Amino acid sequence: MMIVMNISWIERESNPMTAIPSVLVTGASTGIGATYAERFARRGHDLVLVARDKARMEALAARLRQENGVAVDIIQADLTKADELATVEARLRDDARIGILVNNAGTALGGSFIEQSTDDVARLVALNTTALLRLASAIAPRLAKAGEGAIVNVGSVVGLAPEFGMTVYGATKAFVLFLSQGLSLELGPKGVYVQAVLPATTRTEIWQRAGADVNTLSNVMEVDDLVDAALVGFDRREPVTIPPLPDAGQWDALQAARQAMLPNYRNEHPAERYRTIG
Ligand SMILES: NC(=O)c1ccc[n+]([C@@H]2O[C@H](COP(=O)([O-])OP(=O)(O)OC[C@H]3O[C@@H](n4cnc5c(N)ncnc54)[C@H](OP(=O)(O)O)[C@@H]3O)[C@@H](O)[C@H]2O)c1
Repeated sequence: MMIVMNISWIERESNPMTAIPSVLVTGASTGIGATYAERFARRGHDLVLVARDKARMEALAARLRQENGVAVDIIQADLTKADELATVEARLRDDARIGILVNNAGTALGGSFIEQSTDDVARLVALNTTALLRLASAIAPRLAKAGEGAIVNVGSVVGLAPEFGMTVYGATKAFVLFLSQGLSLELGPKGVYVQAVLPATTRTEIWQRAGADVNTLSNVMEVDDLVDAALVGFDRREPVTIPPLPDAGQWDALQAARQAMLPNYRNEHPAERYRTIG
């Protein structure tokens, strides 16, 4: 273990651009993001932590520096605020040591659509989609130019299931999945790995923040298990990782069914069923 750490250190010092990239994690103050930060620190990556709660990030950073000997920077930012988001975008654009972006920050919202305020749903979309998109857009050209690196986008199985009744949240996560799949097709050939991670119910503060008690829910995954599984998918370079799904063949079948429809969209005329009235 000592030897591995020393080699990591030497590589980092001699070739800081590519040897062992820094990882920028959003939503790193707690939950899935904090767990990603810990796992990447254990692997010897320097970190940039982003969230609003500076004190929590400082405590995590101190522990990770001490336990793993990595460098940890903190950016305090509310990613729904354009000027604060711009600071993180600039860091991703300009800091060539950052080779991995974990686009994890996100939140949920309780209530049905007509109960949720227009401002609240707009804020949800700003964090879960606009911020995630802007950060991916900030780093992607640099990674593509370097021909390496990774973007991890944390979506949700809710993005596959309007039936779950979290409509706006699910819509943001459907965006995350589509964006990730599209970016994987665009950036994969340029050497940049893009992964969508789709957790289901995981024990974090997100439930409490949305006004729910996670202890009343069943089949709750522990956050350590979720992130460890997501990292197995990361190491395998899976485009889409769904840790709770037992049969990967079901996902493959869904993708095959979707792809089988693609040639059928190319038609000059509306389908026969729309050419008769009534
Ligand atoms: N837990 C689940 O059951 C579950 C299931 C599927 C998907 N997910 C997804 O997993 C991701 C992480 O969620 P989690 O469960 O770990 O939730 P969490 O415990 O509530 O953590 C959310 C993180 O995002 C940060 N954050 C929230 N609002 C922010 C803002 N405006 N600007 C910057 N950072 C902000 C929070 O830190 P601060 O408060 O310090 O800013 C925190 O670090 C989210 O994208 C979520 O949608 C979670």
